[in-house]
Amino acid sequence: AVNKTWSGRFNEPVSELVKRYTASVTFDNRMAEVDIQGSLAHATMLNKVGVLSGDDLAAIQRGMAEILDEIRNGTFEWSVDLEDVHMNIERRLTDKIGDAGKRLHTGRSRNDQVATDIRLYLRGAIDAIVGLVRELQRSLVDLADAHASTVLPGFTHLQVAQPVTFGHHMLAYVEMLGRDADRFTDARKRVNLLPLGSAALAGTTYPIDRVYTAELLGFDGVTQNSLDSVSDRDFAIEFTSAAALTMTHLSRLSEELILWMSPRFGFIDIADRFCTGSSIMPQKKNPDVPELVRGKTGRVNGSLIGLLTLMKSQPLAYNKDNQEDKEPLFDTVDTLSDTLRIYADMMRGITVKPEAMKDAVKQGFATATDLADYLVKKGLPFRDAHEAVALAVRYAEEKKRDLSELAIVELKTFSPLIGDDVAEVLTAEGSLAARNHVGGTAPVQVRAQVARWRALLA
Ligand code: ARG
Repeated sequence: AVNKTWSGRFNEPVSELVKRYTASVTFDNRMAEVDIQGSLAHATMLNKVGVLSGDDLAAIQRGMAEILDEIRNGTFEWSVDLEDVHMNIERRLTDKIGDAGKRLHTGRSRNDQVATDIRLYLRGAIDAIVGLVRELQRSLVDLADAHASTVLPGFTHLQVAQPVTFGHHMLAYVEMLGRDADRFTDARKRVNLLPLGSAALAGTTYPIDRVYTAELLGFDGVTQNSLDSVSDRDFAIEFTSAAALTMTHLSRLSEELILWMSPRFGFIDIADRFCTGSSIMPQKKNPDVPELVRGKTGRVNGSLIGLLTLMKSQPLAYNKDNQEDKEPLFDTVDTLSDTLRIYADMMRGITVKPEAMKDAVKQGFATATDLADYLVKKGLPFRDAHEAVALAVRYAEEKKRDLSELAIVELKTFSPLIGDDVAEVLTAEGSLAARNHVGGTAPVQVRAQVARWRALLA
């Protein structure tokens, strides 16, 4: 049997099943590069404070460089017998350089080592994800720019409400994603602190220099309590929470894309490369990618609940439970990264059908509120205006015409206040242009928001 680093006090080996059950190397080996990075910084610090000789440090650096090569070119042999990424790499180092490799673990524990590794890994993941969020925002801003005055029925209760522009609708998602990026950036502040030096739970007897290690690893500072440092996974939960909210936003957009692509709406088409056909129904083109995004949101929400539940009953400090933090965290990083990447490309590939959107605006009497506002501006109390317009809508519905298609004489029967100037109020374009204030859907405002976002995303 392979002699584990701690095996001296045991008199029987674990069963094969227990070995497999307790090992994490099959999934935590994705932290190999950051594990090496952390070990090199730790060794450099130990040398600086006089705990590790220059020769030992040089040997560790040489050995780790070789190991990094082996990992990168796929020749490193991961062993479940050695439990996790940390012990696999340490054993390989010792095989290569002997005693110097055995001195690497001085003044640290896997408990502070793994906490450091996850933070290093997550810091990189967050930076990549924020970049992907920005890229998706850019694709939405481009769409908003191209459709700053394209009329779309705005819905409430999924019933046609008032005209908006397609650009305005796209920018609503740009706002959501902007908050998501802010949340990741904020969570990063709490990720980017060094727990190393906390050792198993209480700190260490060696004269370590944690601030120096933090500097070497690009951390903004060091954590302040050793017990908290080895047991804290708040940062993973915060990240996953921000990811769940981002997925929720993309799930809402997906739901809209699916509806809009349904022939009953026919507002958009999604490029073929994001859709699939049916094995039985030859006519079908299904929006698989948005549907899967909607589905995968459940998976990320599940990871969030999994992590919260993982932590809720753990006494201080480190418990093996924590090993279960990695799969939900990694899966969240993978799912969100792939989703963002695919989404930016998909949004660039959608075809907008302005005629269908315009027809839906007309069928839905989307300018009824504009007519009521018109009457109010002529002196009628709003509730009376609301009633007069409701009657006009009923009449137009019977005639199968939009309000804008009624003659002025017909409209006048609902209120003597209606004059010839009502015509422009009843068109979708007039309705849009009138909502001319910050946050409004007027094309001029949409263009201003496009410019604002272009500057922010530059
Ligand atoms: N593989 C472990 C984890 O993922 C590393 C820390 C193990 N420490 C321990 N004392 N068992 O959390």
